[in-house]
Amino acid sequence: MALLEVEDLAVRYYTEDGPVRAVDGISYEIRVGETLGLVGESGAGKSAASLALLRLLEGGGEIVGGEIRFRGENVLELSADELRAVRGTEIAMVFQDAGAALDPVYTVGEQIAEGIRAHEAADDDEARDRAIALLERVGIPEPAARYSDYPHEFSGGMQQRAVIAMALAGDPALLICDEPTSGLDVTVQAGILELLADLATESETAIQLVTHDLGVVAELCERVLVQYAGEIVERAPVEELYYDPKHPYTVGLLAATPRLGDDRERLATIPGTAPDLVDPPTGCRFHPRCPYAEDVCARRAPPLVETASGAPDEGDPEAHVAACLEYTGDLEDGLDYEVQVRDVPDGGTEANGNRPERRQSGESK
Ligand SMILES: Nc1ncnc2c1ncn2[C@@H]1O[C@H](COP(=O)(O)OP(=O)(O)OP(=O)(O)O)[C@@H](O)[C@H]1O
Ligand SMILES: [Mg+2]
Repeated sequence: MALLEVEDLAVRYYTEDGPVRAVDGISYEIRVGETLGLVGESGAGKSAASLALLRLLEGGGEIVGGEIRFRGENVLELSADELRAVRGTEIAMVFQDAGAALDPVYTVGEQIAEGIRAHEAADDDEARDRAIALLERVGIPEPAARYSDYPHEFSGGMQQRAVIAMALAGDPALLICDEPTSGLDVTVQAGILELLADLATESETAIQLVTHDLGVVAELCERVLVQYAGEIVERAPVEELYYDPKHPYTVGLLAATPRLGDDRERLATIPGTAPDLVDPPTGCRFHPRCPYAEDVCARRAPPLVETASGAPDEGDPEAHVAACLEYTGDLEDGLDYEVQVRDVPDGGTEANGNRPERRQSGESK
């Protein structure tokens, strides 16, 4: 059953330079208890897409189109009171830059207890007990003692755990985690990922996990959306995305994803930079950076289609879809992933080995 359905969502930031097309017509769903990854480089619009779900856009951000349905109800039509009732208890958000979400002048425990009282009638002792239980649940050692610590007394990883505890205070059905592990060192990251994995399995909490790191997605998610320049360019079950990526952007992201034991210096990066979303490239937005781009790519915007058949995407969560003219049969030479492999000396990453076989030019698709 779909818990969340997003249809043709569009977000703009109004700036002096003009409207920034931060999210440009994305559609997807999240099922009950599912963990979905939303991945892409900085500036892809991942945070904008996530903040929009709870109508939390600030700084000139506006939802300009589309629908967001949660349990069938359009979030965009909820009154302020109805929206408050959804926030925290149905959908909760762990914001990017967790440390900033904690108020330095209150103890961590008080802040969590405050969150609990916002959602239910609990007296001070009950709220305190529940806050301690939440601290324990997110893996804070000696939670009763740490209840009275101020945020600066927590390490970065513990602050992230505390912020997750705050988000869990209302027992949400959907938890949106925006870059929950960035800025943390590798072992601390692993602990946070384990915590989220436990939450996903122990409770029916669905998770939308936002990250620039495909490695993080691999650890945790069942399905993945790849976002580029405000659009979804690929959607697939996680194994398929890893072992058989279909969009050249995803191939580039995989080549740039460090694996355990990899020498980081050998990793490829995707050439070029993310486009200006005030005036994005014509046709396929990735074409200026795409090693396989042909003239047609600058002219025609590729629709999301099922990669196996070329049929239009109908939203089937298990389908593997990509927005590349390769899959509508409009490329002459097709995708030649060997070009990308040469970017990685020694061909050292797993991603290379996982790439589809090189296809000869002119071979049928
Ligand atoms: N307050 C703002 N005002 C103007 N433009 C903004 C604002 N916030 C974001 N943008 C722009 O919207 C686009 C999407 O930004 P967003 O923060 O959603 O990307 P992101 O994928 O979350 O990136 P990151 O990985 O760096 O967090 C970018 O072009 C960004 O510059
Ligand atoms: Mg972001």
